[in-house]
Amino acid sequence: MIWIGTSWKMTKTLAEARAFVDGLVARRNAVDGVRAFVLPPHTAIAAVRERLPADVGVIVGAQNAHWAAGGAYTGEVSMRMVADAGATMVEIGHSERRDHFGETDDDVARKVSAAVAAGLTPLLCVGEPEEVRAVGGELEWVAGQVRLGLSRLAPRDRHRVVVAYEPVWAIGDAGREPRPGEIAPVMALLSAGCVPGERIEVAAVLYGGSVNLRNAESLLDVPGTDGLFVGRAAWRVEDFVELIRIGSGAGQSEGKGRRDVGAAW
Ligand code: 13P
Repeated sequence: MIWIGTSWKMTKTLAEARAFVDGLVARRNAVDGVRAFVLPPHTAIAAVRERLPADVGVIVGAQNAHWAAGGAYTGEVSMRMVADAGATMVEIGHSERRDHFGETDDDVARKVSAAVAAGLTPLLCVGEPEEVRAVGGELEWVAGQVRLGLSRLAPRDRHRVVVAYEPVWAIGDAGREPRPGEIAPVMALLSAGCVPGERIEVAAVLYGGSVNLRNAESLLDVPGTDGLFVGRAAWRVEDFVELIRIGSGAGQSEGKGRRDVGAAW
């Protein structure tokens, strides 16, 4: 099944979050054909989870959590806390966290293993900055981030991890839309197992960064792409549902979304 998910980043009050959920529930039939996920800010995780009927198959997750089990980490929340609020997935290592909050590959690795220990699906974000792409270093960069991000995880648990390739130059208002050909080699590398000589098999490989209603279909067509991770273009519930419809259509084609969390392949 194709994955279509959105992080709300630092947007949406509780009232806005609830209105989004109500819009989703009103269009619940559209959600059936895909593995949909929503990552609200921490303040809205519990409200979103509680308002979503269990039979509307939307995964709720967090955008970040700390690796420590608990203690004196002012301002942080633990994996167990986000799970307690209703999250079953946690985003880790988004470039905005690496850039603005100094998250290192080792921080990311600690979080990935803490997420799995807490029973959460880690959504490990990787992607090269513009200057690395300019010199053709993206494959090496991304492979390195995946290898380091998974370095504290037992190999038998790698199949629990969803990887999102999000090139930094494509993300957000300052980002530019990628051409499918620009991301294809990276998606091929990630879906093939990433590191020469060592197969790193993960649950799914998603693409994120300037995805929108116009380019979603062609990005989903890129071989090795199991889904899309969307920011701005999915913040209106009507648009999120439209992206889900596009994902559902793409999921009908041969070989797409073949990997499932927990499944051997
Ligand atoms: P945009 O879709 O707004 O470029 O953001 C992508 C992203 O960072 C998803 O987490």
